[in-house]
Amino acid sequence: MAHTIARATLGLTHISPAFEAPKLTLATKEIDVTEWKGDLLAVGVTEKDLAKDQNSKFENPILKKLDSCLGGVLAEVSTEEDFTGKSGQSTVVRLPGLGSKRVGLFGLGQSASSTEAFKGLGEAAAAAARTAQASDIAIVLASSEGLSAKSCTASAIASGAVLGIYEDNRYKSESKKPALKSVDILGLGTGPELEKKLKYAQYVASGIILGKELTNSPANVLTPGKLAEEASNIASLYSDVLSAKILNEEQCKDLKMGSYLAVAAASANPPHFIHLTYKPPGGPAKLKLALVGKGLTFDSGGYNIKTGPGCSIERMKLDMGGSAAVLGAAKAIGQIKPSGVEVHFIVAACENMISGTGMRPGDIVTASNGKTIEVNNTDAEGRLTLADALVYACNQGVDKIVDLATLTGACRVALGLSIAGVFTPSDDLAKEVFAASEISGEKFWRLPMEESYWESMKSGVADMVNTGDRQGGAISAALFLKQFVDEKVQWLHIDMGGPVWSDKKRAATGFAISTLVEWVLKNSS
Ligand code: BES
Ligand code: MN
Ligand code: ZN
Repeated sequence: MAHTIARATLGLTHISPAFEAPKLTLATKEIDVTEWKGDLLAVGVTEKDLAKDQNSKFENPILKKLDSCLGGVLAEVSTEEDFTGKSGQSTVVRLPGLGSKRVGLFGLGQSASSTEAFKGLGEAAAAAARTAQASDIAIVLASSEGLSAKSCTASAIASGAVLGIYEDNRYKSESKKPALKSVDILGLGTGPELEKKLKYAQYVASGIILGKELTNSPANVLTPGKLAEEASNIASLYSDVLSAKILNEEQCKDLKMGSYLAVAAASANPPHFIHLTYKPPGGPAKLKLALVGKGLTFDSGGYNIKTGPGCSIERMKLDMGGSAAVLGAAKAIGQIKPSGVEVHFIVAACENMISGTGMRPGDIVTASNGKTIEVNNTDAEGRLTLADALVYACNQGVDKIVDLATLTGACRVALGLSIAGVFTPSDDLAKEVFAASEISGEKFWRLPMEESYWESMKSGVADMVNTGDRQGGAISAALFLKQFVDEKVQWLHIDMGGPVWSDKKRAATGFAISTLVEWVLKNSS
């Protein structure tokens, strides 16, 4: 093999400190808003909540009560600052008169009912806490009567807060620790059921933070070997339910993973095939699931190198975002420990580089199911790695597979940067995943698997090419993946090249992790 030493320390950059979720105490309380003591009381208000009577006083009971302690300042502020309760608006005042040092109004939009809005409230409150250097905050909704699932609302607010205070400072030479220590959620109930929900929210948040950190890590630090190490770490942290198997290049060769290994062939950092298994405590699983993630720690494009404006080659550390979602979900599942379901977490990790040992445009590679592929574009590498990962997943005897990949620029063009594409021949599986996304608040849109587009994927010399028409490129990519999935297995593909990254935050989003966890929970019994 041409592989030399893995250059994990290239540039002398090391990750510091170890992956760790921030320590934040979450609690639910039923206590009067005027009596709660702490640094910041954050009130989520809808546009409706801000309605005022003839005397310019709030009609909403909670706002009315607060404002009577504050001498009408909140009503004045909302008028003078044109605070109308639109989502994203906020205003914080520091005044005597309450148990809380400060009170803030946070807009929820017209009428808040979505997970997204409540997560946003938690995030905005955490951001305000950062500005105020607050260590104890409370979050309350001005009106919570009409809410159908208060516990879901509380957990959405909680996860927003946990993620809102998180900042990835591992690669900065200096950073400030957040001051926030505790978040009380008021008026949404208390008790063991709710406590459990909040604990789940924190488990999921720890998975999301891991996913963000993996994706934020640059390719000189997060090599395929390092990604495998991180996966093994997760398994040893929750070794009661998780086990890890890491295959090296030789072992992948024995499994005839020619398509995956061809992509890895140019890199000095050898490929690592990651397979974590979750086995439920207390009894056998009724269902077996697989989560498969694209794990390109860097995608240069290969000989079809990414050039020209907008190709984003400098962003291509994000090309393992699918695997980050899978491993983030593994971390959450390892803590939640759902019963009755077995889950396989699979990543064919490698790097798409250029060298004399690398795959050339025009090469024909053979995947582990025996199908041959003429590589007409080395930049369509994700599907080549997923081909062998999907065959491997099917060989585990699973009932359902969800794969996640930053697969095509075409999907980004089609759906923009906030929405992931969903492709599946199974209406049932689509229903399950969309139901999960309702709870998580993440955005997905189903696109068709138009069989006639397969025409452009035909090769004169091999079973198929790896790149078809530019138009409908996300669809032909999905049709390609389908060639490697057993027809007896329900399969769904998520193209998440848009939502994996936030331009606004200049960082990874941890996209899909909460949806995956919800989906696994739906399949547990
Ligand atoms: N990793 C890219 C897709 C991508 C681009 C994700 C930008 C996120 C941001 C993928 O490997 C790729 O290069 N796809 C090509 C496929 C084409 C050659 C058929 C693309 O979309 O241009
Ligand atoms: Mn590519
Ligand atoms: Zn790629």
